Amino acid sequence: MDGLLVGRAAECAALRTALFGAPSGVLPGVLPGAPSGARWAAPGGRLTAARAGPVPVVLVAGDAGAGKTTLVEHMLATASTRILRGRAAAWAGRPYEVIASALRPAVRDAAGPLPAVLAQILPELGAPPAEPSPAALAAAVCSVLVTPVPAIPVPAAPASAIPVPAAPVPAAPVPATPAPAAVAGDGLILFLDDLQWADEASLDLLAALADAADGLPVALVGCYRSDELPRGHRLRAVRALLRRNRRLAEIELGPLGDDDVKTMLAGLWGTVPQPGLAALVASRADGLPFAVEELALALRDSGRLAYRDGTVSLAGPLAGADAAPVPEGIREAVLLRASRLADDERLLLETAAVAGTEFDVDTVVAAAGAAAWPDGFTASGLLAEARDGRAAFRHPLTQEAAYADIPWSRRRRLHRALAAALAGRDAAPALIATHHLAARDFGPAREALIAAAEEHYAVHAYRDAARTLRAALEHWPAGEQEGSRLAAIDRLARCAEMCSEYADAVMLLRELADGYERGGDHRPLAGCHRRLALAHELRGQWESALTAREAAAAAFSAAGLPAEAAVDRLAMAAHLRSAASFSAALATLDAAAADAGACGRADLRLRVQGLRGNVLARLGQAREGIAALREALDSALAQSLPDTAAELQQRLADAIEHSGDYRAAKSAYAAAYQYCDAHGADALGELCRACATWVLFARGEWDRAAGVCQDVLATAATPHARAVGAGLLGLVHAMRGTARLGRPHLLDSHLTATRIELTSMELISSWGLCVLADAAGAHGDAADRGRQLLARLARTQERHYSVPILPWLATFFTEQGLAADASACAAALARIAEATAQPEAVAALAHARGETLLAGQPAAAARELGQAAEMFSRLDLPLPTAQSRRRAAAAAAALGERARARELLDAAYAAAARLGARQLRESCAAELRELGVKPGRPASSRPAISGLTSRELDVMRLVAHGDTSRQIGSTLFISPRTVEMHVNSSLQKLQCRTRAQAVRRLTELGALADDNGRRG
Ligand SMILES: Nc1ncnc2c1ncn2[C@@H]1O[C@H](COP(=O)(O)OP(=O)(O)O)[C@@H](O)[C@H]1O
Ligand SMILES: [Mg+2]
Repeated sequence: MDGLLVGRAAECAALRTALFGAPSGVLPGVLPGAPSGARWAAPGGRLTAARAGPVPVVLVAGDAGAGKTTLVEHMLATASTRILRGRAAAWAGRPYEVIASALRPAVRDAAGPLPAVLAQILPELGAPPAEPSPAALAAAVCSVLVTPVPAIPVPAAPASAIPVPAAPVPAAPVPATPAPAAVAGDGLILFLDDLQWADEASLDLLAALADAADGLPVALVGCYRSDELPRGHRLRAVRALLRRNRRLAEIELGPLGDDDVKTMLAGLWGTVPQPGLAALVASRADGLPFAVEELALALRDSGRLAYRDGTVSLAGPLAGADAAPVPEGIREAVLLRASRLADDERLLLETAAVAGTEFDVDTVVAAAGAAAWPDGFTASGLLAEARDGRAAFRHPLTQEAAYADIPWSRRRRLHRALAAALAGRDAAPALIATHHLAARDFGPAREALIAAAEEHYAVHAYRDAARTLRAALEHWPAGEQEGSRLAAIDRLARCAEMCSEYADAVMLLRELADGYERGGDHRPLAGCHRRLALAHELRGQWESALTAREAAAAAFSAAGLPAEAAVDRLAMAAHLRSAASFSAALATLDAAAADAGACGRADLRLRVQGLRGNVLARLGQAREGIAALREALDSALAQSLPDTAAELQQRLADAIEHSGDYRAAKSAYAAAYQYCDAHGADALGELCRACATWVLFARGEWDRAAGVCQDVLATAATPHARAVGAGLLGLVHAMRGTARLGRPHLLDSHLTATRIELTSMELISSWGLCVLADAAGAHGDAADRGRQLLARLARTQERHYSVPILPWLATFFTEQGLAADASACAAALARIAEATAQPEAVAALAHARGETLLAGQPAAAARELGQAAEMFSRLDLPLPTAQSRRRAAAAAAALGERARARELLDAAYAAAARLGARQLRESCAAELRELGVKPGRPASSRPAISGLTSRELDVMRLVAHGDTSRQIGSTLFISPRTVEMHVNSSLQKLQCRTRAQAVRRLTELGALADDNGRRG
């Protein structure tokens, strides 16, 4: 019924608006504005919502036979844009088939060279890309779609399918909407029909296509059966995504009303039907246009229609025992027509029904054992005439009705015959598999399914490959072809990994591991455990991950591959180290050392030695650990093993930091990242920079620490470095009372650190959040966090990052009257100090003890706290020094030593002001006021000069000093590129063209006079 449509005026208008924005039929060149998602739910054909403006995707939904295809084709007939059509088939075919079939005409007509990535969809173009990129693929498809094709008329027929023929009776034209004048225009509409049957790869591509089409004169129209979208159907996910991105308009087709059915019948019969007859057909057809048509045709063909006085009625009564036979529904109507066929024609029809809605004529002829396809054979209007060797049923429902009527044994025989006929014709393996399965020939079905899975896998259609493999495995008898079965499971696990479905991957890999274990295949077993470990790691399941790595290492050893075993054990030990399980790390390293020795690889041996040294340092045996590390590093440098040396540099700096010597740690980190930079070890370099921020923080260089964190966050990709950068930046903000800036970083860091089991950052970010809660007056919350922190600490062997945290916590708990918790802090520090004997830990312990003594024994408290302040000060650790002084002042005040208290508070106040530690400064100020002293205005540590940031000022001071960008970068823990950026920005702000001019200008401004002791 081309151009003729009954009812559906509202849906037509909605479709036109969604596609063209205006009733012109021309796709806009650029889709204006931000298209908002629109939905036209139209039960009974009524619009419930409408919105103006085009969107890249329109989906038309409705029951089978509701008139979706008809509606879209009616609209497209009025459009002057180019149209490409594809239709998904009910039975599986080649990957991306629906899109590929639509695209082929455009590719054929394309003038220039085609993007190579298109081979992923169109295998005739060559090899598919090695790595999938949905965005690149979608962009390539769009580039083909918008290529102008001069002098080629708009194709009138669907690309892949035989056009659905008009009903085989003259239909009176019933124009539903005035066809707008077609105006010549560019642009293209991609019409994909029956998407409920499309492969998942095609559906996934739709979302990417919608993005790629943004701003291009390209629109996608899709139809799907709303009653055939079970839960978990890929189209649901894609639809949800398109809705969320506001790229979708949706039109739902409901049943036609009785008046519309009557109009349809008038068109089909050429005369207005008598009201009773129209009502009867309408109720049998449930308002479904396709059913209306079928019933109308069946009645007409039965010869029982009586044309009289300009109306048509049924000969005989409408109701009662001898009521006229009106078919019950579609199936009966179809069968009535099929019953008029001769036997050989009926066999052809049945074979065709088994072959599918659209089929290859020769294949059907061969499978039916017929001589030829009879000329003009339409099976009484059930089929369309054959064209280009292919034919189709009038409608998918026609095929379904014909198929349902075939007895099962014959059906099976026909499927088998079709499988055989298709196999000789290079048909899609997935289609051949469908026939084998329906014939219950599971052996050959399996083979075809595996071949189909490979075809899908090769073009990154992982979900389809997985579905196919699952079907193959479902029909795999136990114990048969075990090797091939394991290979299929292996592939299936890869599919799950590629789709990031790790829970599935883990299940499959376990099964695979069992299989390899039974067969005693150590090499593949080891690889399988490695994949398991990775899947667990990606899900944050560290215990299982470690178990899997251990299993991998054991299997590699058993397979005679000790080097591989060493790699896994090193990874385990590194993780155990991060998680502060140092004894376990050492045990693993013992095994790794044996592996490294067995394979004789120097790099592995040195990495083991280095990590061991690092863990020893973390356990408090700093001297021994650092010596081992130095030796390993020298050895790596002597043997020209740059990757190993880079790792060892980082481990060494970390070990020195853990020894408590922050000054030496700072230069070690600088040396480490310079080495990494010079040897292209970018990720390690970022890690060194990030780790150095803790040292900078401890030394009171908070501006610098924050600057480095920002650089790290801007460039670093590894979750490890990011967790450190975000955590330290958040901590600086927390200390400075800028909660709004700090909280998101702290939460972010805490989340990542927990996921990757990075104990240091779990603790540090918790501390920052605790500081924030305390500053906001949420003391209960802060106390909870503090206790959690203590509990977390107790489960680890952590002895370094907790050292500055615990004295702060002890003070907090004491001030809240939570003496038991303060004591717990002291006890934790006692354990650490005992194990490491590090001065920082000893000082921290003195502070915590002082806190526990403050209430009852102020003299002892004053001694402990004064001692702590002294020790911290000698170690050059300004924050804890100030904290201890402040609390020593409280003890002095309790003893009535006002002058001493004031002296201590003055010093603490000045230090807090220098650091910008707001809460500490305010506490000191309040306590000074209690002593009757007005605290002095804190000197702004950094007067703003010409709008230069403190970072830029740092850089420019070193420029004035004559340093090169590289030197400045190493001093300030930033890359030379970042230095250049800061210099350029400073030049602009100072309105100078050269560095020399800028230095002169800064000297005039007095900006270079005070170096403030900030140079590193
Ligand atoms: N609005 C309509 N007016 C007249 N005939 C219609 C209408 N909608 C559908 N039909 C007829 O019903 C049959 C089924 O429609 P179709 O668009 O193929 O349904 P669907 O695509 O929803 O399965 C077609 O033969 C078509 O001619
Ligand atoms: Mg359709």
